[in-house]
Amino acid sequence: MAQVSLRNVCKTFPGNVNAVNKVNLGIENKEFMVLVGPSGCGKSTTLRMIAGLEDISSGDIFIGDKRVNEVPAKDRDIAMVFQNYALYPHMTVEENMSFGLRLRHLPKHEIRQRVNEAAEILGIKRLLNRKPRELSGGERQRVAVGRAIVRKPMVFLFDEPLSNLDAKMRVQMRTEIHKLHIRLQTTIIYVTHDQVEAMTMGDRIAVMKDGVISQLGDPIDVYDHPKNKFVASFIGSPPMNFMVGKIIKKEGKLYFDEGKICVKLVEDMHKKIANYLDREVIFGIRSEDIYDKLFVSQAPPENIVRVNCEVFEPMGSEVYLYLNTGKHTFIARVSAHDRPKVNQEMDVVFDMSKVHFFDKNTEETIC
Ligand SMILES: Nc1ncnc2c1ncn2[C@@H]1O[C@H](COP(=O)(O)OP(=O)(O)OP(=O)(O)O)[C@@H](O)[C@H]1O
Ligand SMILES: [Mg+2]
Repeated sequence: MAQVSLRNVCKTFPGNVNAVNKVNLGIENKEFMVLVGPSGCGKSTTLRMIAGLEDISSGDIFIGDKRVNEVPAKDRDIAMVFQNYALYPHMTVEENMSFGLRLRHLPKHEIRQRVNEAAEILGIKRLLNRKPRELSGGERQRVAVGRAIVRKPMVFLFDEPLSNLDAKMRVQMRTEIHKLHIRLQTTIIYVTHDQVEAMTMGDRIAVMKDGVISQLGDPIDVYDHPKNKFVASFIGSPPMNFMVGKIIKKEGKLYFDEGKICVKLVEDMHKKIANYLDREVIFGIRSEDIYDKLFVSQAPPENIVRVNCEVFEPMGSEVYLYLNTGKHTFIARVSAHDRPKVNQEMDVVFDMSKVHFFDKNTEETIC
């Protein structure tokens, strides 16, 4: 069993840099956990502490049932794949992959069998006699993964393994690693700053900011129910649209009044937002929850807003509209065939059952 558990884990670097602050995280056996967040939020430091490459300032780390705070990296039964692959340039692929096993004095036939098996899984058998400089970025990445697989560790740690690859290769390797997880059935902790990688690969994702886990959960759940404005803006592409405005009451109904546009809240949100009446809040709506009124048959009049279309970007499968209320700009993702006139007014419809409200001071989710 290879569950990993972090309890109140902190890391302070000299100069009082609190890189990781009281992180509590339980990774289940065979789970694919993704740590995601902007640069400098403490992802690599967290991973390096799990690997034993960095001391823990306070707190505890358990692998399986064993507390490993003082266990050296080589005895943790963990394999780590780094962003820069760190292959030995003078060794062949086969030698690179078998290096760790030779250090451990495994029998020769066992080493050969494990290298062959890993090369087969990764589709790099024909490259075994080449040197790293004779490989493409994607192939080098595979070798680095292969070197981790041959060790048959209890836990795999990946630190931004795809960030040196071009966009197409990244998508391909993303699927490969996903398949590998299904095949190997081991625990994986994967670090990335790319929210698409996080969403598509993780069984669960931990969204980090400033050394703290902001939200932990199933990717879709985090997308649909972000706990605060940071998570709402970080997860999803294009990011969620935000507007500042007031909650007002007209004829017993609650509205969000942005100054130029005004939309009616659904009844379900009334209870939670009641405290914010006549106060400013942050309104959030995802680009896919905004529709061109031309394509909506029965739009409730209170959800229609008049905006100026400044630019549109055809993406192939859809079109991004850059819209302006006169106070705020925001993006709508609409059907690929939509071609509104630029610099003219148009009506769009907000799906008010999908919107979010955040407290203006704390930026925590209200509803
Ligand atoms: N050896 C070190 N000494 C001092 N500060 C450090 C050290 N290593 C990291 N830090 C600081 O700790 C914080 C977290 O760094 P970390 O490398 O964990 O970030 P990250 O989330 O992996 O970022 P990135 O996405 O850029 O790789 C940063 O502010 C960084 O400057
Ligand atoms: Mg990092």
